[in-house]
Amino acid sequence: MRSTRRALAAVVGAAALLVASACGTGGDDDSTASKVEVFTWWAEGGEKAGLDALVSRFTTTCPGQEFVGGAVAGGAGVNAKQVLNARLQQNDPPDTFQVHAGAELLDHIDSGQIKDLTSEFSSWGLTGTLPEGLIETITVNGALWSVPVGVHRANVVWTNDQVLARSGILTAPKTLDAFIADLGRLRRDGIESPLALGRDWTQLMLLESVLISDLGPKRFTGLFTGATKWESRAVRAAIDDYARILDFSNPDRDSLDWPDAERLLIDGKAGYQLMGDWLAADLEANNFSGYDSFTFPGNGRAFQWLADSFALPTRAVNQAGGSCWLQTVASPEGQQAFNVQKGSIPARTDAPTTGFSDYQLAAADDWKSGVAVPSCAHGSACSQPWQNAANAALGAFSTSGDATALQSALAAAARQFVRQG
Ligand code: GAL
Repeated sequence: MRSTRRALAAVVGAAALLVASACGTGGDDDSTASKVEVFTWWAEGGEKAGLDALVSRFTTTCPGQEFVGGAVAGGAGVNAKQVLNARLQQNDPPDTFQVHAGAELLDHIDSGQIKDLTSEFSSWGLTGTLPEGLIETITVNGALWSVPVGVHRANVVWTNDQVLARSGILTAPKTLDAFIADLGRLRRDGIESPLALGRDWTQLMLLESVLISDLGPKRFTGLFTGATKWESRAVRAAIDDYARILDFSNPDRDSLDWPDAERLLIDGKAGYQLMGDWLAADLEANNFSGYDSFTFPGNGRAFQWLADSFALPTRAVNQAGGSCWLQTVASPEGQQAFNVQKGSIPARTDAPTTGFSDYQLAAADDWKSGVAVPSCAHGSACSQPWQNAANAALGAFSTSGDATALQSALAAAARQFVRQG
């Protein structure tokens, strides 16, 4: 299962993926139905379980429309976004596609690739049902551009309890130093790489968590609006802290996607993994229950959020089908069904939480009461070109360990891509 994901990742950029994305099918084999191509990166595990739950609602609520899956595997959509952008540029869009709420929408809006959904929002009953802060992130030029389905939290550390217990680690560290001390303890006890980590974008997630601890939520958020300088000493100190933590991760990190790193955690080769809370759904899908989680040490009440949403391409062939998918995504029942499986919480405040895990219920409370900070790795803080530049900088640092080069690459990306106002 996991090797399929790796194999697909390895051939990214190739036309093979374009083909793969266009021919996956699902739903009933009804030759009279109109086909709706729904483009995502949710190809397996907990991610696919979430998508399948939406598909099953869609089949009930949109008779005459047949779901056609266009999943391109690869965490955080690193492969899918390349394929999607190529298709959008070639005027070959799917009928709807997955995109993060926030800055990730901007390039699609600027280039006229997606439809203004403002009037649909009221006809689909979305008015007044989404948190104000979330609405702001999908509002550009006074219009609404995508339908958020669920909110994930990024700044969470997941544990293998057995591994930690063997070293007598029974409580969650509250500070970066305490976390580093626990990592050292595990290593002394024979866990060579106590922190399971994957490729570039998962490394960016780790750096972002360290930055939240070292700068605090407000200055962290300012990194993406121009209010906080990437060139500052405080950012350099955070990069140094990040380097100390990176040292405890698996040396083959650059070739692993997040489920491969998750495998290290499940197999007891690592004690910790920093990952968004889709990991819980995937740990469950892997029948692993010996885990726990805590907010990244030093992040306090910061809730680093990202929201999965769907947009409607202006040139979609089956506009009615794409709209019906969005309507399913917008419905309280669709959101409940999806999020139970996906591990996120509904974007709608009035969606039922029946069947939610204790973790999800706690996350829903934290989302209401915590301090919201956006994520660059998952598009709430950064546009796609900015994400790509940051990922490349982290990937290079993973090999070179050159902190000065990392800081100047991140600063250059911010200067190039920041948008004021
Ligand atoms: C995020 C996405 C999540 C999850 C994750 C790992 O960008 O929002 O839903 O799929 O990537 O692939």
